[in-house]
Amino acid sequence: MKDPVIIFGGDGYIGWPLALHLAWRTERDVVIVDNLVTRRLVESAGSDSLVPIGSPSSRMLAYERASGKGNLTFVRADARDPKEVDWVISKYQPESVVHLAQQRSAPFSMIDQEHALYTELNNIATNLNIVFSMTRHVPGAHLLKMGTMGEYGTPNIEITEGPVEIRRDGRRHRAMFPRAAQSWYHLSKVFDTYNVMLANKIHGLRATDVMQGVVYGSQTNEIVDESLSTRFDLDSVWGTIINKYVAQAVVYNKLLIYGKGRQTRGYLSLYDSIKCLSLLLDNPPAEGEYRVVNQIDETFDTLQLAKKVKAIAEEFGYRVGFEKVRNPRVESENHFYKVQRKVLPSLGFSRTRQIDDVIREIFQVVVKYKPRAMKMKALLAPSVTWAGRKKITSDSFQLPRDLTGWPASHELIELAKDQAAKVPS
Ligand SMILES: NC(=O)c1ccc[n+]([C@@H]2O[C@H](COP(=O)([O-])OP(=O)(O)OC[C@H]3O[C@@H](n4cnc5c(N)ncnc54)[C@H](O)[C@@H]3O)[C@@H](O)[C@H]2O)c1
Repeated sequence: MKDPVIIFGGDGYIGWPLALHLAWRTERDVVIVDNLVTRRLVESAGSDSLVPIGSPSSRMLAYERASGKGNLTFVRADARDPKEVDWVISKYQPESVVHLAQQRSAPFSMIDQEHALYTELNNIATNLNIVFSMTRHVPGAHLLKMGTMGEYGTPNIEITEGPVEIRRDGRRHRAMFPRAAQSWYHLSKVFDTYNVMLANKIHGLRATDVMQGVVYGSQTNEIVDESLSTRFDLDSVWGTIINKYVAQAVVYNKLLIYGKGRQTRGYLSLYDSIKCLSLLLDNPPAEGEYRVVNQIDETFDTLQLAKKVKAIAEEFGYRVGFEKVRNPRVESENHFYKVQRKVLPSLGFSRTRQIDDVIREIFQVVVKYKPRAMKMKALLAPSVTWAGRKKITSDSFQLPRDLTGWPASHELIELAKDQAAKVPS
């Protein structure tokens, strides 16, 4: 195999277009590893990708037909299983490993205790398994780990890219920029950051930790026909905000604004997410280096985005209004937000397409699949709240038993204090 790269999570929204790009545009051999759990979880919640996506084997065939190349491999494996991860990494001896194989929805992680547990256990286990296998089998290889800008929360100072200097009592100390995650999902990524840092410190793991903003769009240069489509989620649990706004414009003719709409975040298109990841793979950190990258293009508040979508909706014949809904999240609605970005610009990153043009592309997709979108109409309104007492298992969202891994039933023994001595050891 030539310069093999393994993409854990290569069946997903970002992973599939990244796999297509790397296999098609470079000479690398690309191995996708995925347990297809996102497909399953979205479907088990009654939703679906708006754009129909093929099975892994039909996608492989479509890629081979379109590109004339045979350098893409799919392995179905669960990255929670250390043996499966070890098998893949020792067999393919990758030069680079991209880790995208995680539960990526903040609302999903806030449904109930089981969903929080599943998210954190899945995400921490997949990351640690990859880290351990890499240090065992390919110690010089580059780990490109996908984190999120949500790790930082919304601090009242500029978010640095990498360490921040702390001064106290006349002394100086350089430390990782403080993390202040606002969901169990985002917090799972904070664990990853510290686990990757520790592996770097102990084993010299060469790693890029990507703090990515919210991604929008569904097209990339390699998605040349529908058989190569990537998934597009529009429901309130799995969709990202711009994709959801466009779906709301077409289905409801109104955009649901959470709270004041002043919540500001960093965004980038799917085109640019792929471009950035590709640049980072082509330009790995030095041997033994741990590198943090803030991967966003522009910042907007949610009302600014809604205004953009409303204006473009009119070009497509949709007159759209705004409906303010109570913010289901616990987050600041008036806050400072500034993000330092140095690494990607220094590698030559520049925007591929303007946001308005990508929003137009999203409209084309949603209008084309409007009958499918209409069937998911009830799933567009927010259904998960952050606050409030959580049940262990929610009544409306059941997590498939085999994913939780904890016992379905067990014998509960309650003993009075003076009986404790009688418990058999
Ligand atoms: N989409 C965004 O806007 C965004 C923004 C910031 C960060 N991210 C991060 O980027 C990564 C990819 O996100 P995405 O939007 O493509 O999500 P996705 O859910 O579409 O893709 C993740 C893929 O990983 C797979 N996966 C999950 N757990 C697995 C396991 N235990 N074993 C094997 N495969 C497993 C899923 O089946 C899925 O195909 C995630 O880590 C996510 O947190 C996404």
